[in-house]
Amino acid sequence: MDNRPIGFFDSGLGGLTCIPYLTAALPEERIIYFGDTARTPYGSKAVSTIKNFSMQIADFLVKNDVKMIVIACNTVSSICLEDLRGRFPHIPIVGVIDPAAERVAKSCGNENRIGIIGTKVTIRSEAYNRIINEMRPELEVYAAPCPALVPLIEEGIIKNDIMDMTIKYYLDDFILENRLDTLVLGCTHYPLIRDSIERLYPDLRIINPSEEIIHSIRKILEERDMLAEGSMFENVFYASDLSENFINMIEKIFASSPMKVNFENLDIIDIDSIKNI
Ligand code: DGL
Repeated sequence: MDNRPIGFFDSGLGGLTCIPYLTAALPEERIIYFGDTARTPYGSKAVSTIKNFSMQIADFLVKNDVKMIVIACNTVSSICLEDLRGRFPHIPIVGVIDPAAERVAKSCGNENRIGIIGTKVTIRSEAYNRIINEMRPELEVYAAPCPALVPLIEEGIIKNDIMDMTIKYYLDDFILENRLDTLVLGCTHYPLIRDSIERLYPDLRIINPSEEIIHSIRKILEERDMLAEGSMFENVFYASDLSENFINMIEKIFASSPMKVNFENLDIIDIDSIKNI
């Protein structure tokens, strides 16, 4: 048993899409979440910048004594997983890409045509194609970056014509030309627009990494005998710029739960000073 919290992080509110799956599957677990809302989006930034930001956040989580780090961000998972594991070899660290790639490899037949959508960095890294094809070299995997989606979602532009037009701008040709029947939402922000994608393309089968990662979390905690039991820790959600959207999203997630939730605004400068202690 280990009642310390699990540390989650993302560039913003995208990683919150993992939380309902976590609380449903592992209701005893408590979390510290960090959303880097002041510096979002990450997905079009330089790899070195993203690595630097991710190290700062992981340092912060480790200083807060988390028992595990969940990289609730495809962009960071695609380029920083090994660096983070190298820096913190004693803490289990999971990314969102491996569990989702595994789901594709296990559930798709050779006839399926699989599309991955994500940020520029995730798609350029080819992490999904590589991991899927390591397990199933014969599967056809197509990938497309959709960089305008995250800024819109962070602004709360989620269910309206602007979002529909943006989804169609990226997906109409991509789906048609490649005759896709399966789509991986390769960015943790995208489950927030899943309803719109399903309405616009009702025949697509969707794979959601924010849901798949929970299997890996459970497996690691079980294997290491680290599941929580009656933890008194109260969930804390930190943001580098505590926006209304961020708070609303969390309140919605916990609306029907008796669990206590705390919010903290954490200046980026504070993160740096914490890092240097
Ligand atoms: N939610 C993120 C991801 O899964 C980050 C997107 C971004 O900041 O561009 O890739």
